[in-house]
Order: sequence, then structure tokens, then C-alpha cells
Amino acid sequence: MPSGDEIRDAQRATWAALSAGWEKWDALIMDQLAPVGEAMIERLDIAAGQRHLDIASGNGEPGLTIARLAPMGHVVLTDLAAEMLDVATRRAKGLGITNVETKVCSADDLPFGDATFDTVSVRFGYMFFPDLARATGEFARVLEPGGRLCSSVWVNPEENPWTTILMQGIATEVDPVPLGHDGPTMFRCAAPGYVSALYEAAGLHDVAEWNVDVELVTESPEQYWEMMSEYVSLAAAALRQVDDKGRRRIAKAVIAKVSTYAGGGTIRVPGVARCIVGTK
Ligand SMILES: C[S@@+](CC[C@H](N)C(=O)[O-])C[C@H]1O[C@@H](n2cnc3c(N)ncnc32)[C@H](O)[C@@H]1O
Repeated sequence: MPSGDEIRDAQRATWAALSAGWEKWDALIMDQLAPVGEAMIERLDIAAGQRHLDIASGNGEPGLTIARLAPMGHVVLTDLAAEMLDVATRRAKGLGITNVETKVCSADDLPFGDATFDTVSVRFGYMFFPDLARATGEFARVLEPGGRLCSSVWVNPEENPWTTILMQGIATEVDPVPLGHDGPTMFRCAAPGYVSALYEAAGLHDVAEWNVDVELVTESPEQYWEMMSEYVSLAAAALRQVDDKGRRRIAKAVIAKVSTYAGGGTIRVPGVARCIVGTK
């Protein structure tokens, strides 16, 4: 198992490299993940004028949506990768959102005082942290008593063909990283109750979790392949290990498989996320 510093360094490099892809495919990513952001925001019970902290914000969600919902409030967007927060800053400018600031930091070592925020969100960040218990302790520490934490993670690979199609295609050429293993990969927090137990150990109460369906919609199987190879961290890392010929073979396999999801002139591939809410 790599050390915490090694995990952080690898994550920083991975997401710095993926930031251009996340900016390029912003509209498709936003559409796919919007139902999860909406479900989280509903349970966070956002009030006017409140202070919100978004952890692992990447290109700014759900923090920017919260900033728009509470224009009298203030939102801090945080992430390990400065390049991802640069994308968030450009999105905020494009959307005319001014009540936000960004801070580069790791989720397990937050540069904020105790009880500084009314709400905290973590959309699809948990699985990448070196020490999940320590990070959860940090989220609880910076929350006001009565404040809420809401996060989301992916459920098991079988219910997420939007990503497993790609990973299975890659596995025809590259040794796969075992999905769900105890390292920083997408399905690390997939087990029901996994994140809830972290919340409870950090002293949060009224902990609840529920599933939310998502759908990745692309114009064509080719667009799915192009997008996914620039969007998913594990895929980007694996694809760096193959030459052009190998990449073409993978593309062919992935495009053939995802073509079975055609419908209504588009490709629509489903997935399932789990949201977890708790109160300090
Ligand atoms: C899948 S993206 C999620 C982005 C955004 N929250 C969303 O849902 O669209 C995961 C983000 O976690 C960030 N990340 C990885 N390790 C982290 C850490 N230790 N602390 C804070 N952020 C981290 C990455 O840089 C990346 O931007």
C-alpha cells in the first residue's frame, strides 16, 4: 500500500493531467452528474447567507450550484489539484458567480478553523483520499454544530456500465487495477454502509444513505470513447501504458460494446451513485 504522501502526489499529477479533459467535456460531465448534485443539495438544506465548503471540487461542483442558490452566502471550493480549481474559476466567471473563492488543499488536512462552515459537500472525492477516517474527522471539525455533511460515491462496478465498459476494453490490453481494492480508485467506497460508518465514527448523527441513478449521454459510440479516455482517472493512467496499435484495438472493443446502448439517436449508458448525509 503506498504512503499518504505517495497517494496525494499521484492524485495531484493525475488530476492536473485530466483537468483539460474535464474542461473540454464540461457539458457532458455536468449533465451526467447533475442528478447527484441536486440530490446532495436537497439534503444539505442550503439557507441564504450561509458558509459552504466544497471538498474535491474539481471543476467546481456542486459548490458553484450552491453559490448560485445562496447568492448572499459564501462558498469555498477546495481541491488537491490547482489545475482543476483553475477550471472551476473559469466556470465561475463564465456563470457570473462572485461569492466563491478557491483554496488548494488536501481533504485530510484542511486549513480552516473549527466550526467555520454551515454545510460541507464532497461529490465523488471520497475514494481518492489517502486516509478516509482522518478526512471525515476534518469535515466534522470544520462544521458548525447542527451543520450537515453530504457526499457521494459510486456503487459497485456492475451497476456502472458507463465506466466498466471502458475498463473492460482496456483490460484486454493492460493488466487491470482490481476495482474496489483498498486503494484510491472509483469503487473503493462502494460497499453499502462504508461511508456511513466513517460519518458515525467522526461523531455525526442522523446518518442516512440512498442511491441516485445517472446516465452518461453521448452523440455516438466514438464520442463516448473520446470523452471517456479523457475523463476517468483510472482509464487515463492505463491508456498511457499502451502503444497506438493497442489503443486502436481497445477503442474498437469499447466502441463495439457501447454501441449496444444506442437509443433515440444517442448513446445512453446508466450508472448508480450513493449519497450519504449526516449532521454534526
Ligand atoms: C471525480 S473528481 C470530482 C470533481 C467534482 N467534485 C465533481 O463531482 O464533478 C475528484 C476530485 O478529487 C480531487 N482529489 C483527489 N485527492 C484529493 C485529496 N486528497 N484532497 C482533495 N481533493 C482531492 C481531484 O483532484 C479531483 O478534482
